[in-house]
Amino acid sequence: MHITFFDRMVDISTTISGIKLKNPTMLAAGILGETGDSLLKIAEGGAGALVTKSIGIEPREGYPNPTFLETEHGILNAMGLPNPGIENYQEEVKKALKSNIPVIGSIFGKNTQEFELLAKKMEQYHVHALELNLSCPHAKGYGAEIGHDINKVQEITRAVKGSVKIPVFVKLSPNVGNIAEIASAVQKSEGDAIVAINTIRAMAINAELARPNLANKIGGYSGPAIKPIGLRCVYEIKAATELPIIGVGGILSGMDAVEYIMAGASAVQIGSGIYYKDEKIFANISKEIREFMDSHGYKTLREMVGVAQKR
Ligand SMILES: Cc1cc2nc3c(=O)[nH]c(=O)nc-3n(C[C@H](O)[C@H](O)[C@H](O)COP(=O)(O)O)c2cc1C
Repeated sequence: MHITFFDRMVDISTTISGIKLKNPTMLAAGILGETGDSLLKIAEGGAGALVTKSIGIEPREGYPNPTFLETEHGILNAMGLPNPGIENYQEEVKKALKSNIPVIGSIFGKNTQEFELLAKKMEQYHVHALELNLSCPHAKGYGAEIGHDINKVQEITRAVKGSVKIPVFVKLSPNVGNIAEIASAVQKSEGDAIVAINTIRAMAINAELARPNLANKIGGYSGPAIKPIGLRCVYEIKAATELPIIGVGGILSGMDAVEYIMAGASAVQIGSGIYYKDEKIFANISKEIREFMDSHGYKTLREMVGVAQKR
């Protein structure tokens, strides 16, 4: 591989609960990430780690179209958690592991038992860590209801931690009154890291047709418009807990990533950014982070984590 001047001067590697990432950019769950081949393509684009699509117990088709819509400042989706089901997912994980970068298995369930079962299966498939999706804003009976209930968040985190040896990341919803309180509950339950944020409950209306655009009516909003909300959530979580944080929401550039890192994130995930740019966004953001660090005198990424907390 070609080694640039910046590579030698500035260290952008990061470690989350013992998992070392060559750079802090990760693929966000559910974005192009259902098949092993699409995950490999993202790895080639320079990602430091991959997160799978959220996988449940049974195969799910998801909602009817339209499920995806680009609006003025972001993307609205109500996919309805389409996925092949855990039993059919081993081959895809196997392919993704060929990338030689960490693969994180995202899972969603209706209750604690489902989460435990999915977690054990993903661990058997040799993923490096788990991401519990407790925060899908539009799939009835799943994430949303669970992620808003502090007792359920605690119960599920504790149960999954008790049933696997790999690190457990917990992905939180911004659609709550006090996200820091929920993050503290994850820390108490021995979760290893927080992923913030999932999409924001939102909708669009088609005035000509006088009806909601999405078949599901309500969806989740992502992309540039949600960056200030993601930053606020990461900042509040950092102030309230000692857990490593993976920041996600509206990251399209190296500067966006630097802002999340300064708010308190040790790594970032990129989802909608792939639709706005392409899969090379991971390499481009890494390069821009390096350039920023070099021009501002930061030698390691860790030095930059949470610096905005102190001002
Ligand atoms: C089309 C689409 C599908 C998504 N699917 C999932 C999913 O399966 N599991 C999950 O935890 N988050 C899912 N998300 C949320 C993203 O992982 C991410 O948290 C959110 O989009 C904010 O980041 P972004 O602004 O970079 O897209 C999805 C988002 C989009 C746009």
